[in-house]
Amino acid sequence: MGTGIAQAFLQSGFDVVLVGRSEESAKKGLDLMNAGISKAIAKGSLKESDRNNMLSRLKVTNKYDAISGSALVIEAVSEILESKISVLRECEKYAKGSLIATNTSSISITLLANSLANPEMFIGMHFFNPVPVMKPVEIITGEKTSQKATELAFKFSEMCDKTPIKVKDYPGFVANSILMPMLNEAILLLEKNVATKEGIDAIVKLGLRHPMGPLELADFIGLDVCLDITNSIYKATKDEKYKPERLLVEMVEQKKLGKKIGEGFYKY
Ligand code: CAA
Repeated sequence: MGTGIAQAFLQSGFDVVLVGRSEESAKKGLDLMNAGISKAIAKGSLKESDRNNMLSRLKVTNKYDAISGSALVIEAVSEILESKISVLRECEKYAKGSLIATNTSSISITLLANSLANPEMFIGMHFFNPVPVMKPVEIITGEKTSQKATELAFKFSEMCDKTPIKVKDYPGFVANSILMPMLNEAILLLEKNVATKEGIDAIVKLGLRHPMGPLELADFIGLDVCLDITNSIYKATKDEKYKPERLLVEMVEQKKLGKKIGEGFYKY
């Protein structure tokens, strides 16, 4: 998600700093970005000449001090409360006065803000995968988010050619409140042998006109990411419909994490 968000802002003419947790992950971020740009060129939405222009405005590093002076900082680490808090605190330290956003899929903005020094300039900006292609951004305000921060989040989203939509600070917001039970249900149907994985996906694609079937989509998002999100919503709501299916837990335990590692419900 981090490289996708960076690519989208670069495509819209922004200067971007991409901070990885290590030199190795920062380098991986650059490789992913190049692959994303190649994909956009292949699709005709970018030209080869755009690549150099975009990369000339990108700095890739593992040092937080590079974000100092940024107008907007977007955190996009794993959907784990402690990880997010620790990264957001670093962001606040180096980007004083900036708008700081979290790309959380499900965690309460007010809860995250409680650990920050300046909750007025903190907001949720939830992007969708693949970010360069998908239009919506869920904009989620916490109890202390200022009007100025909200207006800036809308403005930056629009400048990045996205459609910002205001959403209440509710576990899973809108998208994942709807998506996670659907993915869980598809996994349950597979566990119960109601149809093959290909059959389940084909019915949803052809019958419900979704661009991807749910099992293909879960692989695309990452099964570990799906598990973290649904666990986070389940923890907050105690609603059984968010309790992860056994097969999802098992697959993550077996490190079958989806497309990014070459195996999930499908092999890639
Ligand atoms: N820039 C970067 N990457 C791009 C791209 C672009 N302009 N266009 C496509 N891609 C990437 C995709 O990530 C994917 O990656 P791989 O190269 O590793 O395969 C690949 O291109 C797929 O492209 P295809 O050519 O195979 O397919 P497509 O272009 O016809 O459609 C799609 C791709 C837009 C992903 C379409 O299948 C789709 O809309 N799928 C549903 C996506 C969806 O539901 N996203 C939301 C997920 S939920 C979420 O993100 C929120 C959350 O919190 C979990």
